[in-house]
Amino acid sequence: MSAPRGVNQGVAPVTYGTGDRPPRGDYGRARSDYSCDQDWARYTAADHETYRRLYARQLQQLPGLACDEFIAAVAQLGAPERIPRFDAISERLLPATGWQIVGVPGLIPEEAFFALLAQRRFPVTDWIRRPEEFDYVVEPDIFHDLFGHVPLLFDPMFADYMQAYGAGGMKASRLDACELLARLYWYTVEFGLIATPAGLRAYGAGILSSAGELRHSIRSPAPRRVGFDLQRLMRSRYRIDSFQATYFVIDSFRQLFEATAPDFTPVYRQVREVIAAEGEVEAGAVLPGERQFSAAAG
Ligand SMILES: [Fe+2]
Repeated sequence: MSAPRGVNQGVAPVTYGTGDRPPRGDYGRARSDYSCDQDWARYTAADHETYRRLYARQLQQLPGLACDEFIAAVAQLGAPERIPRFDAISERLLPATGWQIVGVPGLIPEEAFFALLAQRRFPVTDWIRRPEEFDYVVEPDIFHDLFGHVPLLFDPMFADYMQAYGAGGMKASRLDACELLARLYWYTVEFGLIATPAGLRAYGAGILSSAGELRHSIRSPAPRRVGFDLQRLMRSRYRIDSFQATYFVIDSFRQLFEATAPDFTPVYRQVREVIAAEGEVEAGAVLPGERQFSAAAG
């Protein structure tokens, strides 16, 4: 099955203003750190219904495709019938892993995004797609951000990884290495797979919040599934307008956290040297001798 246009809802924290259209959302409400209050009373019955339908569609797909940590935590989002209140989720999340969620008007600049993550504050877009955008919305909305990202913030190791990523991002900004680090976010936080004793499972938010990519990422024979390798990952281009052609597979969240713990300064240098010598790796390409994973049966 070919991917519908724009299926990819895992948009990386790109700076707005670089595209040819203004960002969606009311940035006039944002504070200097881009956070804003969730105006919960403003949601309409149609907004809550859109959330309910999206949640129900994704929930029934999770068994056998989403990782156990995600499935165990998804109920922490609260009642699936209506859009949750951010404060209520933070009351559960803060004692669990020290994270909170904060509202934002939409995509925010990279440096603001990194700063919030480094403070263990996860930015969640506070508007929801229109009913006619049920299957496709250009920018990540509240459903992608909440359903896709927040459950794993209840996992202590993944929660630490996200903070480390934010801290690394602040440093990458100074080293002009945001593009390389964005690839790490893309191929882990948004489109990561994990090898478990029961088989491959998804943990990336772009997959978990997508109607079609969840099954595709685990079961389709089409994409490449490559063992996680930081340098290889940072050399790899990615697709933003279709299902991914390459996924990177981690063994554990600890592996992910430990891979980001070192100072990336020499990593960026090495990656740039390899790219200069051998080029970037196109999405879907495989390198000789690379560890690959097959599609799961089912
Ligand atoms: Fe996302």
